Amino acid sequence: MRIKPIVNWRKLRIFLFTVLALCIIPLTRYHQIDEPILRYLEGPRGVDPLSLHLAGEFVENNLGTEQNADGSVTLRMIAQQYLFVPHCLLVPAGVPVHLRITSADAVHALAFSGTGYNIKVLPGTISAAQLWFTNPGEHKTVCREFCGAGHYAMRSELKVVPRDQFPVLRPGERGNCAAQ
Ligand code: CUA
Repeated sequence: MRIKPIVNWRKLRIFLFTVLALCIIPLTRYHQIDEPILRYLEGPRGVDPLSLHLAGEFVENNLGTEQNADGSVTLRMIAQQYLFVPHCLLVPAGVPVHLRITSADAVHALAFSGTGYNIKVLPGTISAAQLWFTNPGEHKTVCREFCGAGHYAMRSELKVVPRDQFPVLRPGERGNCAAQ
């Protein structure tokens, strides 16, 4: 006499595959459709890494330090393999520094020696942070995220000058200290 198995393995397998497929469909939909739409609607935080130098906030003459009406400054930068642009930064001491940075390629992390700042920089996204340098001095600007063969050479300079010695910047002149 043949004993009928309690578990029908074939049916169970079909059932499990169906459940798996039903889970994958909404997940795929989320990643392929919902997420890009949400990212698109978020708008201004996204940037196209391939056209940074052509249009928008991160065109070359908009990089560096910009004075704001309230006395604070905005510092705009690009991180790319294997340098930070501008290469030499100038900011005043004792005022809020609004940093806005994006990446032209890989993931980088911007850090200033002697400070605790460590800002992750991703392509397609603007990383914003508020910095504050109490005292005048010089800091090395280093990349703290492994980004390729030139990672360890990816460093530049930040000069903090006394607030009253910070040059009055004319429009179009962004206080890149290499140009001083
Ligand atoms: Cu950029 Cu490491």
